[in-house]
Amino acid sequence: MIKTLNSYGLIGFPLSHSFSKKYFTQKFENENIINCEYNLFPMEDIKHLTNLIIDTPSLRGLNVTIPYKEKVIPFLDELDETAKAVNAVNCIKILPIKNTRDFNPLLISKIGKEIISKKLIGYNTDIYGFRQAIKPFLEIQHQRALILGTGGASKAVAYVLKEIGIDCFFVSRSKNEMPAGKQFLYEEINEYIISSFKLIINTSPLGMYPFINEAPALPYQYLQASHLLVDLIYNPAETEFIKRGKLMGASTLNGLSMLHQQAEEAWRIWNQ
Ligand SMILES: NC(=O)c1ccc[n+]([C@@H]2O[C@H](COP(=O)([O-])OP(=O)(O)OC[C@H]3O[C@@H](n4cnc5c(N)ncnc54)[C@H](OP(=O)(O)O)[C@@H]3O)[C@@H](O)[C@H]2O)c1
Repeated sequence: MIKTLNSYGLIGFPLSHSFSKKYFTQKFENENIINCEYNLFPMEDIKHLTNLIIDTPSLRGLNVTIPYKEKVIPFLDELDETAKAVNAVNCIKILPIKNTRDFNPLLISKIGKEIISKKLIGYNTDIYGFRQAIKPFLEIQHQRALILGTGGASKAVAYVLKEIGIDCFFVSRSKNEMPAGKQFLYEEINEYIISSFKLIINTSPLGMYPFINEAPALPYQYLQASHLLVDLIYNPAETEFIKRGKLMGASTLNGLSMLHQQAEEAWRIWNQ
C-alpha cells in the first residue's frame, strides 16, 4: 500500500540559516518517521502563502519565522489562545476541509474530482518552548524579571513569566515601545535595579550574527551568583551576554532548549 506523503515546512525571508529543516529531517531519520518531508519556502511576500497551500496539497504544517509572525495572521482562519495572547504565530496547522459550506474560498484545490479547501490554524509554540526551557532553572529569588527588547519573542517570554507569577519589566532603547509603568531605558539600569531583578532575559538580537561581539548595555559588574541570565539566542551557544554573566558567577541558559521544545510542540500540534 502506498502511504500518502505528509509535508511540513518553514516560511520566512530570507531562510539561509534555518535550524528547522536540519532538525526535522534528522528527527524523521532518527525516529524512523516515514513519508514525511520538511522543506524551506523562502517567500519575498506573505501573499504567496495562498499559492503555496494550493500548490502543495500534501502540506500539513508550517513554521513561520521573521518577518511574517504577525503579517501571516490575516491569512489564517483561526488563532489558538497562545497566538492571540501575543499576536504572533510561529506555527500553522493545515487541515483539509471537504465540507463546501465551511471552506476558505482562497484555498480551494482540486484533487481528481474532489474539491478540497484548507483550514489554517495559528499557534505560538515559542510560549511552550520558553516555559519548558526555563522552568527547571527557576528558584525562589526569581520573583522579578528584566526582559531586554520589546519584539515578538519578548511578548512570549512575558506571557510565560506572568503565568508563573513573576513580575516583568521591559528594557528598551526607546520609551514609546513599552507597556506603561513597566519599563526602563538601558541607561536607567543601575546597581539597585540589577540587585532587585534576579532574572534577566535577552530577547534582543545583540550577540548573534552580525552582532556577535556585542551585549545589551547593562552594568554587568553588579551581577551576583543569585542571578539567572537567559539568552534566547542559540547560535553562538555562548553569547557575550552569557559570557559576562558567567564571569560574575551568575547562572546562565541559552536558547537551544527553547528552540528544541518549540519544534517538538509544533510536531505535536501538526499530528494531534
Ligand atoms: N530560542 C528560540 O527558540 C527563539 C525563539 C524566538 C526568538 N528567538 C531569538 O530571540 C531574538 C528576538 O526575536 P524577535 O522575533 O523578538 O526579534 P525582533 O522582533 O527583531 O525584536 C528584538 C527586539 O530587540 C531590540 N533590538 C533590536 N535591535 C537591537 C539593537 N541593535 N540593540 C539593542 N536592542 C535591539 C528591539 O527592542 P527595543 O526597540 O525595545 O530596544 C526589538 O524589538 C532573536 O535573536 C531570535 O533569534 C529565539
